[in-house]
Amino acid sequence: MFEKLSPMPADPILGLMAKYRQDQHPNKIDLGVGVFKDEAGHTPILACVKQAEQHRIDTEETKVYIGPTGSPEFNKLIADLAFGNDNPAITANRVRTVSTPGGTGSLRVAADFIKRINPNSVIWVSDPTWANHIGLFEAAGITVKTYPYYDHQNKALKFDEMLATLSQICRDDVVLLHACCHNPSGMDLTTEQWDRVIDITKQQGFTPLIDMAYQGFGDGVDVDAYGVRQMAANVDDMILCSSCSKNFGLYRERIGACSIVAKDSNAADITYSVILYVVRCLYSMPPAHGAAIVETILGSSELKQQWLDELKVMRDRINGNRAMLVNKLIEKGVTRDFSFIAEQKGMFSFLGITPEQVAKLQQDHSIYMVDSSRISIAGIGKTNVDYLAESIAKVLSV
Ligand SMILES: Cc1ncc(COP(=O)(O)O)c(C=O)c1O
Repeated sequence: MFEKLSPMPADPILGLMAKYRQDQHPNKIDLGVGVFKDEAGHTPILACVKQAEQHRIDTEETKVYIGPTGSPEFNKLIADLAFGNDNPAITANRVRTVSTPGGTGSLRVAADFIKRINPNSVIWVSDPTWANHIGLFEAAGITVKTYPYYDHQNKALKFDEMLATLSQICRDDVVLLHACCHNPSGMDLTTEQWDRVIDITKQQGFTPLIDMAYQGFGDGVDVDAYGVRQMAANVDDMILCSSCSKNFGLYRERIGACSIVAKDSNAADITYSVILYVVRCLYSMPPAHGAAIVETILGSSELKQQWLDELKVMRDRINGNRAMLVNKLIEKGVTRDFSFIAEQKGMFSFLGITPEQVAKLQQDHSIYMVDSSRISIAGIGKTNVDYLAESIAKVLSV
């Protein structure tokens, strides 16, 4: 049977990582992989995570099945973190949450849930979006369409075009929005723009699905959740997919959450029963370890404060790297305006150079990024920014 198969194209980022590892250049730089790195290039385990994990090891009494919802305590705490515990959707008991295997698991639960509601479902994603959104929803049998989002030419949001498209979308469709730190563009909606999008969502009646993979990496946990919170307070139905991979540094533990907001508590119960059925058919039950760590942190005022402090260090480093690169490029004589990098948010931005220039950076300078020139901001550091800016300057001047 397997002889019928032909190979799938390799993941471009994994291919890039393999090439980077083999490269012997002493100044090589990896701007491909989207994980947080400290100045030394490590992705550290947060101190609050270490403590919570120790507590978990000391107190855990059983490894018995946890059930398709995952830990109820985690679900409550992570929903409060996302929506805010005073959100009208929370106080009216309209929110239900399941723990999921990472943000990707959450998106897949959402995809199967959407498909179950409407077999002809269409999901609208931003152009561009995280590449996996497309494969993931198509794998669930959902048609993926795009709405205009990032203007590569002007390094700006195509907001009017985005609104014009959203204004044509029908009730049965789903619209995927990035809560903050848009991947891959770093271009986020302002609060005023969120308000306009929420108005159109209400007007058209489509279902918003917000993907929040970077809460706390932009401006802070509350500011980053503005769109999620306002949307939940203003629409009947909504789906939120969140991830603890980046903000808790729990990448390999695979912990995230899928929350649904329904019209009222009764509708939320019915919707939840369908979500739980979807989970049972997909993977039965989520992993428990990451959820236990997160619930230990969020459930302790001391550990939560420590986490917020550690998260701020990661956020400040990313925002600092953005400003540092822009300043260095000016210092190295680059006249092209790169100031947009300092204004954008989160782990990624498009440098906005051609694929040929990307290839040249790799061949001549051992600087690795994907062809679209999306760079992972955490790969920049005080020790490599001079070399990086000099190399970009050289490539631009040819
Ligand atoms: C926009 C977006 N959504 C979801 C995810 C999935 O995160 P996780 O690693 O928790 O599956 C990512 C990860 O890079 C992402 O960038």
